[in-house]
Amino acid sequence: LSKDNQFSPDLFQRLFYSKTNEKTVVAKLLRENFLDRKFNKALDIGAGPGEITNILAQHADALTIVEANTFYENTLRNKFPRANVIIGDVRTTELDSDFNFILLNQVLYFFPANEWLTICGNLRNKLSSGGELLIILNDHHCGDLRKIFASNFNRLKPHLTWDYMPLDQFASALTKGGATLSVVPYSYEVTYESLGETITALEAIYFGVSAS
Ligand SMILES: C[S@@+](CC[C@H](N)C(=O)[O-])C[C@H]1O[C@@H](n2cnc3c(N)ncnc32)[C@H](O)[C@@H]1O
Repeated sequence: LSKDNQFSPDLFQRLFYSKTNEKTVVAKLLRENFLDRKFNKALDIGAGPGEITNILAQHADALTIVEANTFYENTLRNKFPRANVIIGDVRTTELDSDFNFILLNQVLYFFPANEWLTICGNLRNKLSSGGELLIILNDHHCGDLRKIFASNFNRLKPHLTWDYMPLDQFASALTKGGATLSVVPYSYEVTYESLGETITALEAIYFGVSAS
């Protein structure tokens, strides 16, 4: 087993994003949710290549982007010339406050689950009154993927590049912290052509195991 803490954009593109309609589904939901809403000040954490950021940008007068991976720096600066692009770890970045909208799309897995509530609590503190924090996450605690790795999860955990918390537990902890929650379930498809391709993707993406 090898542990690689870096999110590998090429690997994800080849073994996940090119095989799924995830971004299309999320983009549609966001467009429906935003409609004619306008945010004075918005923040996107872990923007990656900025595809989903692009939707938020169309509804934000001022946009701040925090992305840890320097791989995306030029792309983000070119795509969003008016945005404040910060390349850094959200946990150590000095952030402004009074955001009307904060987006955390498919990012929390990159942090140990025991940090999720602190990170979300800190982001909530950066919201304006009536502001909204949108957290988009897969539920790793149910479904076929869970069946595949459940029996080995604890053994593999120290080697995995990602972590998760059952979403019902996460939601209830957020509510106890005083947040008002609105939950919108969604699903998307991932299609692999063969068993070999499926196993390669499971190893590389979900387990973070390299063949070497
Ligand atoms: C799965 S991608 C999601 C990208 C984008 N939000 C989207 O949905 O298209 C997760 C992103 O979070 C970024 N990330 C991981 N840890 C981070 C951290 N500590 N601070 C800021 N960004 C981080 C990764 O570099 C990666 O670009």
